[in-house]
Amino acid sequence: MLAGSEAVTEDRFAEEMKQRLAVIEERLLERAGGQTELVTRAAQHIINAGGKRFRPLLVLAASHFGGDVDEEDLIRAALVVELTHVASLYHDDVMDDADMRRGAPSANRQWQNSVAILVGDFLFARASTTVAELGVDYVLLQAETFARLVQGQIAETIGPAEGVDPLEHYLHVVADKTGSLIATSALFGGMVSGASDDVLESLRAYGEEIGIVFQLSDDIIDITSDVTGKTPGTDLREGVPTLPTLLALRSGDPADARLHELIGSDLTDDAALAETLTLLRAHKAIDEARAVVAERAENARRMLDPLPDGPAKETLAALCDQVINRSV
Ligand code: IPE
Ligand code: IPE
Ligand code: MG
Ligand code: MG
Repeated sequence: MLAGSEAVTEDRFAEEMKQRLAVIEERLLERAGGQTELVTRAAQHIINAGGKRFRPLLVLAASHFGGDVDEEDLIRAALVVELTHVASLYHDDVMDDADMRRGAPSANRQWQNSVAILVGDFLFARASTTVAELGVDYVLLQAETFARLVQGQIAETIGPAEGVDPLEHYLHVVADKTGSLIATSALFGGMVSGASDDVLESLRAYGEEIGIVFQLSDDIIDITSDVTGKTPGTDLREGVPTLPTLLALRSGDPADARLHELIGSDLTDDAALAETLTLLRAHKAIDEARAVVAERAENARRMLDPLPDGPAKETLAALCDQVINRSV
């Protein structure tokens, strides 16, 4: 009896998630509509190209830990985080001189840098309109989150100050540029459902940690995966040190001399980049980085302990496994 009713609840939860995600898809495209066909086309381009919708999913799952939820507000909260995310991707692709995003030509490649930058700004503006409809607490949080994200991107661009450990710098960058918005996604879900302060804090802490793991994993698959919908080795080509590279650089093994030389060189050359990728893919630093990911994913899972059991908590816990095993 109990098992049966639980199964129904899970089915209903899954069905509700699916329906809400479908509404979010429609609304995202609607919010990307502009005054001219070019603006609309360029703003819808990366939204249409797909994406995992990880942040909206977090909003939806996290909204099950409070009381009644206003459906419109929930959708708005999910739109705010995805619009903010997509806008940051338009800008990130200019910064990284990327060719591909979500398996499609990046906006900077399809049009030009200035169009990609301005369309990113346009989508940030749409996120602002949407968050204003939610109220001042949400506006404040989104503004602080965005400031953190941008400062993470700046810190990555500038690199560590003299005397600062590069690994420590890197972990700060990852938390700021990616942990921030993912933490806010979980928090928004809790806020929309009027969750208690304790629950909000658990959701925020979980979001921040899973967000960090998410980026650590992204940085591994930048090296190891050919199916990300992005060009492999972009971080190396752009000279952005990430966890696997930093771990490989720590090795004192003389056999790593060539890899160290390559990592310190200009990797805009295709042959040099390909050689670096081959060496790194076979290097133990990849396994070491994966071990860090697994450990921190467990941290994230533990942060869910105080939350009540049910399909929402299971969904959040499942993300901890998915983030370890992702190739996309
Ligand atoms: C890419 O984010 C940028 C990072 C913060 C790693 P996602 O991996 O969530 O990209 P999409 O939205 O699925 O395309
Ligand atoms: C950028 O990190 C994260 C943000 C957009 C804030 P990456 O440069 O690793 O993201 P991808 O790999 O291009 O998606
Ligand atoms: Mg990038
Ligand atoms: Mg990346």
